[in-house]
Amino acid sequence: MAVEHTFSILKPDVTRRNLTGAVNAMIEKAGLRIVAQKRIKMSRAQAEEFYGVHKERPFFGELVEMMTSAPVVVQVLEGENAILKYRDVMGATNPEKADAGTIRKEFALSMGENSAHGSDAPETAKQEIAQFFKPDEIVG
Ligand code: TYD
Repeated sequence: MAVEHTFSILKPDVTRRNLTGAVNAMIEKAGLRIVAQKRIKMSRAQAEEFYGVHKERPFFGELVEMMTSAPVVVQVLEGENAILKYRDVMGATNPEKADAGTIRKEFALSMGENSAHGSDAPETAKQEIAQFFKPDEIVG
């Protein structure tokens, strides 16, 4: 199986509650390696670009507000099958449907404030990583 990179965001509900380390511990325990990481305050333009695929959806405005409401931690995670593995570690988008032991089951507050983002496919992972990291910031 191929070693992949996936893009992760620890969302404002995580930084606000000082849970960055707790979430990172779950990521590392799952065998994913954090090969790039920075804490940023996302601008409105960055959030709108990042979630552009959802711009016609009714929750878009609220989503952009939430993502810019406090710092986030953007990351690149490396591992075998990292994209699907991290989706498993995060759990379902709706935390009520997330399995026990997942990030969203443990920490998410709601469908909107659901603690983590992870890329859903190799092409989106590549685009999302490129939005936030230069190649020399990724140190495997
Ligand atoms: P989506 O890409 O469908 O989920 P995921 O983050 O699991 O890949 O949606 C992006 C984010 O939009 C999601 O994490 C939370 C928010 N969202 C809502 O607030 N309400 C909704 O009904 C949906 C589908 C998503």
